[in-house]
Amino acid sequence: MIGFEDAEPAGDPAAAVAMFAEAVEYGRQVAADRRKRPADDVMSAPANAEVDGERLTDDEFCMFWILLVIAGNETTRKSLSGAVVALQEHGLWKGLAREPGLLATGTDELVRHVSPVMQFRRTATRDVELGGRHVRAGDKIVMWYGAANRDPEVFSDPHSLDLSREPNPHLAFGTGPHFCLGSRLAKLEISAMLTELLTRYPRLSIDGEVSRITSTFISGIEHLPVTLR
Ligand code: HEM
Repeated sequence: MIGFEDAEPAGDPAAAVAMFAEAVEYGRQVAADRRKRPADDVMSAPANAEVDGERLTDDEFCMFWILLVIAGNETTRKSLSGAVVALQEHGLWKGLAREPGLLATGTDELVRHVSPVMQFRRTATRDVELGGRHVRAGDKIVMWYGAANRDPEVFSDPHSLDLSREPNPHLAFGTGPHFCLGSRLAKLEISAMLTELLTRYPRLSIDGEVSRITSTFISGIEHLPVTLR
């Protein structure tokens, strides 16, 4: 669904739009089902939660459903494949396999380095000076997380991969009231998965052409041929 600018997997934008519509429709069925039969699962909560006596409408539920489907998997998958490439390119795979405890700080550094979510847009609610530019109320501002995460005024040697970097005030999970709801789960997933890969395959190597997805929203790897050793 996020690959609509890409040759794969949809092949053409119309197919991607159709997939999107299909996923929204599935969300509608999930809402109806969880309202009829609430279960102990993640979608039952937003389907049945009430704030001031109001529930999410079907459209609101469906948008939250799509948000979770994309936010909960594109990001962690792209972080993981991006982490494998970054660790290999910086010659750090074998060392980290010997010392996986470094992931305590290294996970944030890998997320900073990969910055899988490229941008979100905000609308200025008031006039403000930002980085020497005047932004007027109502202006649209695009926040490029990858650029912020390479800011030399914040990160020393920003293009390096320093697994013990601390503090690491990166913005890959956003900032403010919409800060990523899944950041802790994401870091847990990434460090658990990398620990397994590193300890099972300490001599993993990239063997073939690595290709990236064509997208202005998610930065990441589409094909990553590796040999597991
Ligand atoms: C490395 C992995 C991840 C990255 C880099 C990431 C990044 C982001 C970013 C940049 C935002 C927007 C923040 C803003 O607008 O200021 C966001 C929001 C969100 N993320 Fe993540 N995310 C990740 C993993 C996850 C996971 C695993 C989940 C859920 C299972 C998740 C759920 C959400 C939700 C629900 C929001 C919206 C929060 C709101 O609007 O209040 N994310 N994430």
